[in-house]
Amino acid sequence: MDRPRTPIRSLAELAAAEAACTRCPLYRDATQVVPGEGPAKPSLLIVGEQPGDKEDLAGRPFVGPAGRVLDAALEAAGIPRAETFVTNAVKHFKHEMRGKRRLHKKPNAYEIDRCRWWLDLERGLLRPAVVVALGATAARGVVGRPVAIGKMRGTAMPLADGSRLVVTIHPSYLLHIQDREDKRVAYQRFVADLRLAATVLAEGRRPASVA
Ligand code: URA
Repeated sequence: MDRPRTPIRSLAELAAAEAACTRCPLYRDATQVVPGEGPAKPSLLIVGEQPGDKEDLAGRPFVGPAGRVLDAALEAAGIPRAETFVTNAVKHFKHEMRGKRRLHKKPNAYEIDRCRWWLDLERGLLRPAVVVALGATAARGVVGRPVAIGKMRGTAMPLADGSRLVVTIHPSYLLHIQDREDKRVAYQRFVADLRLAATVLAEGRRPASVA
């Protein structure tokens, strides 16, 4: 199914439509679609790259090792996970077989852009004040063009729908850093990016001061 014939009005309808998606070839080798998860009216939307092996099997986003890093960093940044909606730029697990192992493969621009259609619908339903993009794939999924993470880190970019975008690294990057000190520094920077998202959120909530 390229796109549903009836309008999508709820997250349940969105998940059902995503499950029938054939907009790119990735549905063929995945176990199932992995829809976003979280409250219907979240303040924060966190966008990852694509489901990993564990997520593909569970049908839920960020339940594997990268999810554990994300959970810890959200807590360190003072962001309640219950207030965040977590999703991915690409909703099916892209991988290649190496023996019996399924190795993660980065989605290409075509796959990201085809799946953007679902992410846009998701954002339209959720209307979060702040979107956090975890890595370049997520950022491309949100803005629809390539984004230089290094240049955009530390800023909150206004999006066309009135929300703000904070771009940071993908937590799986931290899992691959071997040097302990490098890992610690990179993690602290990741937490600082999430704190920026929390600050932007708090600023948006604060009532305008009376002159
Ligand atoms: N990495 C992602 O980008 N998303 C997930 O759901 C899990 C790992």
